[in-house]
Amino acid sequence: MEKKTFFITTPIYYPSDKLHIGHAYCTVATDAIARYKRLCGYDVMFLTGTDEHGQKIEEKARAAGITPQEFVDRIVEGEKGVKDLWKLMNISNDRFIRTTDDYHVLSVQRIFKKMYEKGDIYKGAYKGKYCTPCESFWTESQLEDGKCPDCGGPVHDAEEEAYFFRLSKYAKPVQELLETGTFLTPPSRVNEMINNFIKPGLEDLCVSRTSFSWGIPVDFDPGHVVYVWVDALFNYCTALGFLNDKYDDFDRYWPADVHIVGKEIVRFHSIIWPALLMSMDLPLPKRVYGHGWLVIDGGKMSKSKGNVVDPYLLADKFGVDALRFFLLRTFPFGSDGNFSNELLISTINTDLANDLGNLVSRTTAMVEKYFGGTLPAEREAGPADDELVGMIKAVRGKYAAQMEEFQLHTALEEVFRLIQRANKYIDETAPWVLAKDEGKKARLASVMYNLLEALRVSLILLSPFIPESCEKAFAQIGADEASRSWDSAAVYGSLPASVTVRKGETLFPRVDMAKALEELAKAEAKPAAPKAPPVLPNVTIDEFAKCDMRVCKVLSCEAVKKSEKLLKFSLDDGSGTPRQILSGIHKFYEPEDLVGKTVVAILNLPTRKMMGLESNGMLLSAVRETDGKEELNLIMLDDSVPAGAQLC
Ligand code: MSP
Repeated sequence: MEKKTFFITTPIYYPSDKLHIGHAYCTVATDAIARYKRLCGYDVMFLTGTDEHGQKIEEKARAAGITPQEFVDRIVEGEKGVKDLWKLMNISNDRFIRTTDDYHVLSVQRIFKKMYEKGDIYKGAYKGKYCTPCESFWTESQLEDGKCPDCGGPVHDAEEEAYFFRLSKYAKPVQELLETGTFLTPPSRVNEMINNFIKPGLEDLCVSRTSFSWGIPVDFDPGHVVYVWVDALFNYCTALGFLNDKYDDFDRYWPADVHIVGKEIVRFHSIIWPALLMSMDLPLPKRVYGHGWLVIDGGKMSKSKGNVVDPYLLADKFGVDALRFFLLRTFPFGSDGNFSNELLISTINTDLANDLGNLVSRTTAMVEKYFGGTLPAEREAGPADDELVGMIKAVRGKYAAQMEEFQLHTALEEVFRLIQRANKYIDETAPWVLAKDEGKKARLASVMYNLLEALRVSLILLSPFIPESCEKAFAQIGADEASRSWDSAAVYGSLPASVTVRKGETLFPRVDMAKALEELAKAEAKPAAPKAPPVLPNVTIDEFAKCDMRVCKVLSCEAVKKSEKLLKFSLDDGSGTPRQILSGIHKFYEPEDLVGKTVVAILNLPTRKMMGLESNGMLLSAVRETDGKEELNLIMLDDSVPAGAQLC
């Protein structure tokens, strides 16, 4: 019989900054669900990726002096980039889509055209408040004191030609979809969507931009790029091969079983996304799950607030599994969770070191000590067994009920109830007392076997959350492949009667809270600004005097075509003939801001050609590196200093 499929997705990430633990939260949770479904025997397609277009990325790339493609490549593929982080966190995605991938670009163009031909996308005018220097439209509510929120400058009413999607046409079917109560969960999110977005009236959505170019071009209308959310949402289909030849899994996996998304993007996934799919006559995803945020002191983590937590640091200190576990065990998935290092360490110590780690090490140590590692086949039941064995048999069902609803923390609670019960069973049965009595060997073997079975079933259920540690623990308790399966998790007695254990390394060492907090505080502190480089060896005054440095006035300045970095200056150097100098400072200055400025240049350098243009000299700047970032200030003097004045 063919396996049942399960298609699960995470949002695709903006590679505008390095990812932090908040981003990892969503992906780790999705990974645990995907692993759980695989364990249950599903043919799982777990998709993640990156959402790489848009003005923000274009601007960041410009500021970094590189192309947008170079910029996103660096953050997606580079060291400690997105892919690297998912590898670190042991994410088992089956596919990774980048919205700059050719096949996706092609599919989105085809999709856009189809909706246009159907009449669901039409050309209109985008009206808003426009800030000329920032080249940005703002809505009335985005303005700050009536001014541009970015530069604080004046804005004016303006219109721009744009394409619109008839979102209003789909308001009714989308509302009905939300009201089914099964499409969007948790239920609290449904009311939010209906009351805040549907009831006030859905307006048509502007789905193209002309103010920047880093996007998927509308192929039948050059100058327009597709709105980044339309581009991004369709990744869920294009990554399966929808309207492209790269993959051929669309019929197999679509519609998605669940899109896991953070709460702030539920609106896009539960209103805009179904409407777009309805327009394309495609089946709708079965479910959207809106999870909460990982916050710090009640506020969202963000780079600008300087409160992001570095997953590399934590994984290095405590191990990847401990970090994965903490994220999913501590906070209800649908609500916000307040991150703190103290909470992380206490979860590791309580659940992983004390409860689970201890149970593994105590049990394997006792089987080695009392039986040389291999249990005898004889058994003798005792009064405390029934409750423990009953729990072993029941836990899979309870856990699965929670997992099916993505209640990851309560699913883990069920497992830990069994682990805690097993630890209590050790105290109740006192194996060290039984071991002293030769006549109690069969009873002692039963106690050990029950403990191993409790562990075996717990480990199966924990394996989606802490896969590497479970592998190690399975080896320690002597569980072979068959006794690690989902089916065997519902059955008591899968381990062979004469099972052999192998005590191994401590799975989760206890963390010294005070010491670890101190070390983390040190590591998280910003490194001191690097010292200025050492002074160079002396030159003589005669050598120095050979440099002809002059004050110049900037007559004109423009960006050099096809160059991200170069600006072309025409300068008045006092000689009466304009002097052309090229300078690679575009990432620090806009050309129009420099016209009329009084700058300093060294004039008697040999002529250099750059991008086919001559440069006769060099502008002087002050350069400094802070936090690995280059800072540059062009040396500018008071405008009263005349052109041609010599520096000495
Ligand atoms: N690119 C869009 C998604 C497009 S999907 C078609 C996007 N990207 S994002 O990088 O900004 O966010 C990706 C996911 O990370 C979102 O689900 C977001 O909620 C989640 N998180 C970002 N910071 C988070 C926390 N601090 N806590 C939990 N999740 C957080 O949105």
